[in-house]
Amino acid sequence: MNLNIAILPGDGIGPEIINEALKITQVVADKFNHQLVYKHALTGAAAIEAVGDPYPEETHVLCMASDAVLFGAIGDPKFDNDPSSKVRPEQGLLSMRKKLGLYANIRPLTTFKSLIHKSPLRTELVDGADFVCIRELTGGIYFGQPQGRSEDGNTAYDTCIYTRSEIVRILELGFEFARKRRKKLTVVDKANVLATSRLWRQIAQEMAPNYPDIEVEYLLVDNAAMRIIQWPKDFDVMVTENMFGDILTDEASVISGSLGLLPSASIGVHTSVFEPIHGSYPQAAGKNIANPVATILSAAMMFEYAFKLTEEAALIREAVEQSIVEEFVTVDIAEIAVGQSTSEVGDWMANYIKNKQL
Ligand code: IPM
Ligand code: MN
Repeated sequence: MNLNIAILPGDGIGPEIINEALKITQVVADKFNHQLVYKHALTGAAAIEAVGDPYPEETHVLCMASDAVLFGAIGDPKFDNDPSSKVRPEQGLLSMRKKLGLYANIRPLTTFKSLIHKSPLRTELVDGADFVCIRELTGGIYFGQPQGRSEDGNTAYDTCIYTRSEIVRILELGFEFARKRRKKLTVVDKANVLATSRLWRQIAQEMAPNYPDIEVEYLLVDNAAMRIIQWPKDFDVMVTENMFGDILTDEASVISGSLGLLPSASIGVHTSVFEPIHGSYPQAAGKNIANPVATILSAAMMFEYAFKLTEEAALIREAVEQSIVEEFVTVDIAEIAVGQSTSEVGDWMANYIKNKQL
């Protein structure tokens, strides 16, 4: 296949982890005879510095024209403690999601057997945990208007809005995912307090009879946060609104042993985006120590979801798993205090794929 991939490395460790992911996509392409064309574009703090916009029009045009977007990370501490700064790197990510219509963010939570002892939870609780969080990505309090400050600066407000059609399309995806998996859907909301949550729950209850094979469970978000830690194995597919999904998936991600392991796919109307769920980790930028696994697994999701190339995706996952089994890993998941560098881990996996007999 001929495939065009937009590469948006972003900030912090973004460029380093993207480099490793590209090593992997290239060996996979060579092995399976695909032609991949990469075009790089600016986003985040890097784009603000270059052109004053965290998601420049040029970048958007490239994304629209591509078959998939591979995204590194966004965010720079320079902007965090400056409430007066008008543009923020994160706005780039949000505009990209909105303009590409990426209303669903799929975040699979899986564990690696050989890493279970790194989990903050007891082995018997985590071993075998395997669920997917489907996070609504273009609505809710992240985007609702009005948002801002009163004239005197002493009152601030955000607005949470959801429409029926936004809720229906994400719940449909949740039901469909559950149908392909263990047939359990957990709808997470705060229906005891929020009007938007009550609409979510009402619509989910209306839809449930159309999926008689799916067991539907309703959980309040605070309770869900607790259950993720207490009984992670109880979940199969979880579906929730934008901000709840953001928070719960960071919580869930550490169950596997490191935040550096989990990938995501954002899908919707236009080109899909594949990105690790972790941030730009500015303290590690340029040090060649960041864990590239989440980005490499995001590339695997790209082969699976955007290109429908499941064998390629499976081989990438196998390389990742094997590197972990053989403990060829970065310091965050290493047994001893020293780990391999970011690029050494990428090289190891690239070699594994190259030498693998199909
Ligand atoms: C994520 C990130 C973003 C979010 C930030 C950087 C805007 O935390 O992708 O989870 O909150 O969606
Ligand atoms: Mn987040």
